[in-house]
Amino acid sequence: MISRRHFIGSGAAVAAGSIATSKSSSIANASHAEPNRPVVISTWKHGLAANDAAWKVLSAGGRALDAVETGVRVTESDPSVSSVGIGGWPDASGVVTLDACIMDEKGDCGSVAAIEDIENPISVARMVMEKTPHVMLVGKGAQLFAVENGMQKKNLLTENAKAEYEKWKSSHPDAIKSRTINIENHDTIGMLAIDSNGNLSGACTTSGMAWKLPGRVGDSPIIGAGLYVDNEVGAATATGVGEAVIRAVGSFLVVELMRQGNSPEDACRLATQRVIDKTPDWKQIQVGFIAIDKQGRTGGFCIQPGFDYAVYDEAGGNRMFDGKSHVAK
Ligand code: GLY
Repeated sequence: MISRRHFIGSGAAVAAGSIATSKSSSIANASHAEPNRPVVISTWKHGLAANDAAWKVLSAGGRALDAVETGVRVTESDPSVSSVGIGGWPDASGVVTLDACIMDEKGDCGSVAAIEDIENPISVARMVMEKTPHVMLVGKGAQLFAVENGMQKKNLLTENAKAEYEKWKSSHPDAIKSRTINIENHDTIGMLAIDSNGNLSGACTTSGMAWKLPGRVGDSPIIGAGLYVDNEVGAATATGVGEAVIRAVGSFLVVELMRQGNSPEDACRLATQRVIDKTPDWKQIQVGFIAIDKQGRTGGFCIQPGFDYAVYDEAGGNRMFDGKSHVAK
């Protein structure tokens, strides 16, 4: 051992969609004289259950890093979530491959990409961070590392995911050959937390785009794209079409926008605007960001309507927020 969802059709909402100009802050963004902490925020409705697990760590005075790992493991191990961990929809050859990364308050980070047969890639990512001099392991090497460090191999392709794959494959017989990718399913879980000591961490994990080309890796395991944490400023994570997020170095951008004085919500709005500006077919894709700053303020913003996120803090409990969007509802 070395030491140490959403492509969318051209629906009426998009065709008729206008660019929203609101700069107002969300309820979760209300300013606080005192820092609000601990707080955890995560993407999509599956974030509620993940937040519950993370909150147990945070409310007991635990570290944000432990909270985010514990939280997203819940989603990874839930077979009913078709875009993360076991139950994730497979690639175009019917194989489930997972991407994940984690980052802590010290700027340390770890990542795995295209890992197979391991239910909790976030914990592998953490071990990459803590037990190796590297940041990222991929494919067979990542799997070998996981097994050598005590993880069990497991079939991640559930009966339900297999049935969905068969349905897709029969209606797209030339999909691999023609490089046609049908992408309807990639609701990454990204989670960010600030603990009672004021330290930030984040985690991001996904099975990626359904029916992706074998070998495709999205933004979720890429530090700076799917996730970024700067303990002096804040943290951000992304969901949606990973290629567009990678091109914009999206999560890093959100954190830098907060560094310039923008609120978490405004930073997410400006970053999604950047994605729009750089993506000719932006009307066909969804990208969303969530963010938290050093004061424990949270926010999110997305391109298309339909994105939501879960926030848990002492004052408000665990609740959902609709992500504001550039395209009007
Ligand atoms: N955002 C997840 C992916 O594109 O794989």
